[in-house]
Amino acid sequence: MWGGRFGSGPAAIMQEINASIGTDKRMWREDLDGSRAHADMLAAQGIIEPADRDAILDGLDRIEREWAEGGLVEDLALEDIHMHAEARLKELVGTPAGRLHTARSRNDQVATDFRLWTRRACDEAGAGLAALQQALLDRAEEHAGSIMPGFTHLQSAQPVTLGHHLMAYVEMLRRDRSRVADCRRRLNECPLGSAALAGTGFPVDREMTARALGFDAPTRNSLDAVSDRDFALEFAQAALTAGLHLSRLAEEIVIWASQPYRFVDLPDSFSTGSSIMPQKRNPDAAELVRAQPGTYLGAVTLLATMMKGLPLAYAKDLQQDKEPVFKVFDTLQLALAAMTGMVRELGFRTERMRKVAAAGHSTATDLADWLVREASVPFREAHHITGRAVALADEKDCTLSDLPLDELKAIDGRIDAGVFDVLSVDKSVASRSSFGGTAPDQVRARIAEAREELKAE
Ligand code: ARG
Repeated sequence: MWGGRFGSGPAAIMQEINASIGTDKRMWREDLDGSRAHADMLAAQGIIEPADRDAILDGLDRIEREWAEGGLVEDLALEDIHMHAEARLKELVGTPAGRLHTARSRNDQVATDFRLWTRRACDEAGAGLAALQQALLDRAEEHAGSIMPGFTHLQSAQPVTLGHHLMAYVEMLRRDRSRVADCRRRLNECPLGSAALAGTGFPVDREMTARALGFDAPTRNSLDAVSDRDFALEFAQAALTAGLHLSRLAEEIVIWASQPYRFVDLPDSFSTGSSIMPQKRNPDAAELVRAQPGTYLGAVTLLATMMKGLPLAYAKDLQQDKEPVFKVFDTLQLALAAMTGMVRELGFRTERMRKVAAAGHSTATDLADWLVREASVPFREAHHITGRAVALADEKDCTLSDLPLDELKAIDGRIDAGVFDVLSVDKSVASRSSFGGTAPDQVRARIAEAREELKAE
């Protein structure tokens, strides 16, 4: 395709280091779509004859059928997907194929293909995130009133509802979806027509190609358009943040499924056995998802390092961009599907959670709050009084609500029988009804809002 000025062909090793077809063949549909839009525009502008356009479009359709059925035959000498498509077009339709590359370079072509590919990746990742949100919402609704221990420092802190805990992840995923949507919005400008780096002297209609490919507008600077890979980095960064959230959920599932916790039963469909220990049921899928942020961070690092200090405009460094993005997308989609399945099928042991929630004096804050509210005790003093009650309960190896009233009164005379109303986990949870708090009514309200939001999109 570019051999005119060369006396002999490249060394085999040169072909091997230079070729990207093994990776970028994945963008073959985007490449054909870009060529269709370009050929249409060239004819509409009188740059090529309608008959050539028709031959080109017909050839592109035939290539599409061919590759959809049997895949393409890789040839390192043809370097990348763009030259594979053009070479096949030449075989199929002859001379008109040679007119397709008028007013175009592989530099604006690859930038266009990759944006189209990443745009679809954003849409599919958004749908995957929404599916996991749906699963979490359904389980949260089912458990809006189920009680579990809430932790800080992984120490029992205050009782919360399981629905509230699951809804925390719905919030994280909401932000993740907005990051992916944001990436999509920003990337949706069309580089076609920027040509190699400087634009083109042919009277192209860049609005027309942009529109045909579903872009909002053509890019505004040809140098930037062929060398910008912000969108790839942004997609990987959005995936990294989502991956961190999935990893936290995965780790909680691993902990909850462990024998000392026994908060959940792993479904058969998402656990594995051991080849030596017959009793085992291992949370492998969750562990794999827990480990994945390394993959996303690796991609972010690769893309950032690739772009660092790269002079304008296109340089072959940029050919390294696709592999990490493809890897990120595949990893994320699989992780989302696995987590969605797992969340749908987890067996929550709510009785056990409730028992653990009541242990560890988790309603001590409620006792302190009661003293503030009912006896006008300053909070710091109430904290101290409650601390003494906790010490007494520890000494007697019982819970706060098991302490006899006279012994509580001995600690502070202002305590009366009304205090027992707030010491149960149910009362504790129901009392935390501030906006965004763990009270079942609050959780149900947030679930309804989140469902509306998901429906609206
Ligand atoms: N295969 C290249 C890439 O993925 C696009 C071709 C640009 N090549 C060139 N020699 N200007 O970046």
